[in-house]
Amino acid sequence: MKIIDGKAISASVRKTLIGRAADFEKKYGRKVGLSVVKVGANPASEVYVRNKILACEEVGVKSFSYNLPEEVSERELLELIDALNDADDVDGILVQLPLPSHINEKKILARITPEKDADGFHAVNAGGLMLGLPCTKPCTPAGIIELIKSTGETIAGKNAVVVGRSNIVGKPCAMLLLAENATVTICHSKTSDLASFTRRADILVAAVGIKQFVTGDMVKDGAIVIDVGMNRNEGKLYGDVDFASVSKKASYITPVPGGVGPMTVTMLLKNTVESAFRCKEN
Ligand code: GUN
Repeated sequence: MKIIDGKAISASVRKTLIGRAADFEKKYGRKVGLSVVKVGANPASEVYVRNKILACEEVGVKSFSYNLPEEVSERELLELIDALNDADDVDGILVQLPLPSHINEKKILARITPEKDADGFHAVNAGGLMLGLPCTKPCTPAGIIELIKSTGETIAGKNAVVVGRSNIVGKPCAMLLLAENATVTICHSKTSDLASFTRRADILVAAVGIKQFVTGDMVKDGAIVIDVGMNRNEGKLYGDVDFASVSKKASYITPVPGGVGPMTVTMLLKNTVESAFRCKEN
């Protein structure tokens, strides 16, 4: 069994991005800019947002940080997005999810101009992914594909099983694996006899949000296992995969932490730098 080192793979992608961001600055006289909008004080969001801002610094992307109070109105948030959509020095906009319940998340995501949608959550980008058009891809799924490719194994023709059907991870991940010519199955909380599906997976993506949910008996010998879980319990981070039992079966496995997480942040920066160039060149 080999560990897929998300930190190391991230570091090498970030090295390329440092060069790209510097090229942008030289050519256009300003840094690539990413606006990071956080509402309220969700503890997990605090950590994610901090990591995203630190990664901007590392790569040479200017971050514009907005920490709005929990009580901010939907209208105020929409007005901020309008301003960021119009700002010449902003190439990417990210609104950290989840948002407080009085704010309509769908409405907020729809307001971000698709060209600056660093997360790839806008319907235009989601639709582009579905149709195979050039589009911004959601960061976690894009990172997952990079991690799988880093093994050197081919994806085409493999049975890929994605457990989880969220708009952020499961659905787009399935579309990206399909684009790589895998045979893709999406499983979810209503799937009956889940293990009968996961046991057939050459590539297994666990994105259920339940601590150590996938156990060794559910995994095929030699499978590539990607653990998207970020389950916090008494200050410790756990994946959706039971590492101890699954690592005995898998050929490759991502650890938590240090697997998918760092790649997600790196793909966010990649999306932002690419958006910046695309906006200038088109
Ligand atoms: N919340 C959990 N994951 C994500 C993500 O990838 N992007 C944003 N904006 N919010 C999230």
